Amino acid sequence: MKIVQAAARSRLRARARFSGFQVGAALETRAGKIFTGCNIENATYGLTICAERVAVYKALSAGASRFRRIAVVADTDRLTPPCGPCRQILWEFCGDIEVILANLAGETETLRLKDLLPRPFDASFLKE
Ligand code: THU
Repeated sequence: MKIVQAAARSRLRARARFSGFQVGAALETRAGKIFTGCNIENATYGLTICAERVAVYKALSAGASRFRRIAVVADTDRLTPPCGPCRQILWEFCGDIEVILANLAGETETLRLKDLLPRPFDASFLKE
């Protein structure tokens, strides 16, 4: 799958010298354009940003706004899912997209974000 390959390629650019855990993501717009991301750690640890959020912020800052799916690739036997903060950001900016989890062995699983983040908080509550 092209989107999984794009995430796997981006994973190779991860700056993960502290955890050693490299992650790649690829976010596809409804028009079929792909924005990639990798996790980027730094010496303060706390400023780490996950691959998924790098992909979302790259896409948004390039002007993209409607998304179809995201692929997440890590080198784990159990397929690595997005962390809690990334689920929130994905929900707020991408909606109920498909989330494709994959590893380097070629295993994949496709989920919906709504199932990873049930009963989400978002801007709709701020208007009540
Ligand atoms: N990480 C991601 O980039 N995405 C995930 O889905 C899980 C975790 C990163 C954050 C940190 O750089 C490293 O993996 C270990 O948590």
